[in-house]
Amino acid sequence: MQNAGMAALGLNWRYLAFDVDPSQLRDAIIGARVMGFVGLNLTVPHKLLALNLVDALDPGAKAWGAINTIRFEGREPTGEWKPIWNFAGSPPEVRACGFNTDGEALIQALREGLGFEAAGKRVVLLGAGGAGRVAALRLAAGNVAQLFLLNRTIQKAEEIGRDILARFPKVKVEIGYPPAEVDLILNATSLGLKPDDELPLDRAKLPLRKAAAVYDMIYRPAKTPLLKAAKSAGCRVANGIGMLLHQGATALELWSGLKAPITVMRDALVRNVYGS
Ligand SMILES: NC(=O)c1ccc[n+]([C@@H]2O[C@H](COP(=O)([O-])OP(=O)(O)OC[C@H]3O[C@@H](n4cnc5c(N)ncnc54)[C@H](OP(=O)(O)O)[C@@H]3O)[C@@H](O)[C@H]2O)c1
Repeated sequence: MQNAGMAALGLNWRYLAFDVDPSQLRDAIIGARVMGFVGLNLTVPHKLLALNLVDALDPGAKAWGAINTIRFEGREPTGEWKPIWNFAGSPPEVRACGFNTDGEALIQALREGLGFEAAGKRVVLLGAGGAGRVAALRLAAGNVAQLFLLNRTIQKAEEIGRDILARFPKVKVEIGYPPAEVDLILNATSLGLKPDDELPLDRAKLPLRKAAAVYDMIYRPAKTPLLKAAKSAGCRVANGIGMLLHQGATALELWSGLKAPITVMRDALVRNVYGS
């Protein structure tokens, strides 16, 4: 997806994957900086760790408490920070700035995949890991009316609930199943990655027909057990490929300052993930 996007923009850049042990994340970020990398994407378990390893934080990364994108920036003589590729040589001062593109990507994917807008809606959120936390806070920032938080480790859901109450007091937050119909069930657990995984919710407590739409952040397999069951129950459904696409497209825009070629990136992503 990124290499196809960079090629379409005429950038002589390459996107490469590296396995980095969490204990060496600091060294890896410094290494990328001194080798002139334009930026980095980070995934689990690095998203939270990186918060303490960058020199500056974009408001989004600060608000959602996680970093999935780093941009290396150089300082102009005027004091202004600019993406590193703006400089002919290595500028005397370089910093790593952390961003989070997951929250906005989710909102965009919900809009495109399900026609869902958060304001005024009732949402059940399954999962309180890194992705669940960003989703909950971003939905709250989008003025969702009510959030029902469910998680295997209940304390993590309660922690997110407290955070939302403190920062978005107009949003009603409950820990547990909803008593009535909801507009969206959002799966942010890793249940569904394997074909024989159980559903991430108890259907006796929340029959799927009580949800207008179901979004699963998982994109491989394309049809998770939850999405299959939700479709049979008549819900609108979408998987996480749209979120993956948009978090990557926004990262490319942050690095390059150019509009991401979404169609090219989507085609490359779908080809790569699903082979067609
Ligand atoms: N589409 C995208 O772009 C995108 C982006 C980010 C994440 N994701 C997907 O979202 C999911 C969560 O990612 P994450 O980064 O939040 O991971 P994470 O921080 O490791 O959180 C995992 C979540 O899944 C729950 N979980 C794991 N195993 C479980 C089990 N056996 N039974 C019940 N709950 C279980 C965890 O519950 P506990 O808290 O109790 O451990 C936690 O809520 C993953 O499937 C990931 O692939 C997709």
